[in-house]
Amino acid sequence: MQSTIPRLKMEAGFFDALRSLIPFPSNAKQKFRKLLADYFGIDDEKILLIGSGRQALYFLFKSLPDYETVIMPAFTCRLVGDAAYMAGKKVKFVDVSLDDYNLVPELLEKRIVKHSIVVVTNQFGIPSQTREIKRICEKHDCLLIEDMAEAFGTEIGGKKVGTFGDAAILSFSVSKTISTARGGAIFLNNPKPWSGKLEKVINAEMNPEGLVRALKHCFTAGTYNFFANGIVYGNIILPLWIRRHGLYTDKGIYTTKKNSFYTDNYTQMQARLGLIVFSRLDSIIKRRQSIAKRYIRELSGIKTLGFPKLSEGSVLSRFPILIRNENKTEFYFRALQKNIDLGFTFSYSMSRDKKNDPNAEFIGQQILNLPITTKISDAEVDYVIKSIKEVAKGADKPPQLLF
Ligand SMILES: Cc1ncc(COP(=O)(O)O)c(C=O)c1O
Repeated sequence: MQSTIPRLKMEAGFFDALRSLIPFPSNAKQKFRKLLADYFGIDDEKILLIGSGRQALYFLFKSLPDYETVIMPAFTCRLVGDAAYMAGKKVKFVDVSLDDYNLVPELLEKRIVKHSIVVVTNQFGIPSQTREIKRICEKHDCLLIEDMAEAFGTEIGGKKVGTFGDAAILSFSVSKTISTARGGAIFLNNPKPWSGKLEKVINAEMNPEGLVRALKHCFTAGTYNFFANGIVYGNIILPLWIRRHGLYTDKGIYTTKKNSFYTDNYTQMQARLGLIVFSRLDSIIKRRQSIAKRYIRELSGIKTLGFPKLSEGSVLSRFPILIRNENKTEFYFRALQKNIDLGFTFSYSMSRDKKNDPNAEFIGQQILNLPITTKISDAEVDYVIKSIKEVAKGADKPPQLLF
């Protein structure tokens, strides 16, 4: 039986999930908020723990009815679009840069609509040009929301992403730097626009914390670790998943159907898991940064691969590579023959507008991801590097379909 390196591994482990069942501390949510507040250097009163990252965005949008339009990058997670459409907003997209996969300030300046909400997404943990974008927002009376779902700990000039905008959101879902199975947070850096409104929307739409839900999230964290075991993953989970959902599970199709991600509350049990993972934050960040540096150092000379420009302050949740001059699915299967799963993140552009957003289109078509979690050993990183060099050379050989 072969062991496969999976695309994702959760930073919370099986025993962490078990520990979170012990009902201590009873005020875990308060403690987790305080830790986040201290880490980001903001007042804990300004932080709300919430059911998911998409819910955080949805509530922020929904409680600003006089802002009609949300402007966002044309390449990002489809859920950012879902949250805006669900809140009844008009959505405008702005193309991204091939250097950092983030919204281009000069293009924003051209497409901005007065009195709207601008979202920057710090894609994969690479910082946006937030200072420039904030200036543009101020000039046009727009609010800036920093989506740092994928960028926990990322900094711009020594200042943390999430502390620049009027508001910011976090996600604690499985692939994130701090994972508690599900969950998210809202930072209200400038509470005024949401004053008296956000609370009302949340009270009307969010379910109370329930024990069954809490146990379900804890169970997810436990089982996720089992499923991500190389042997289970490569021989059972991945083949079944691909057979059932196809390669491109997320087709980038928007939905406004509300599910439990939009109504669940964040539970004490999840916060306890958050406290446990947070205690390892420094080592998680250092490890992810060191793996990213190795990939860049060892692989960026390969012509068929495209790499983002990473600034010193980037903390990546995923490591993106672009496959140039080749169908990425073929590249994917050649890597899978070497037992490495490189798929599949946001294989779409948000706007489907090749003419106006060519970079988003290109990235969506050509992107794959190298594994980057603390759960991957040095030997596995060496193996990934060696294998990717071989896979990139084998561009002329047709892949053998495995499933
Ligand atoms: C940029 C971005 N924003 C928002 C979200 C939504 O977060 P969640 O899955 O916690 O709802 C994601 C999810 O991965 C994301 O990548």
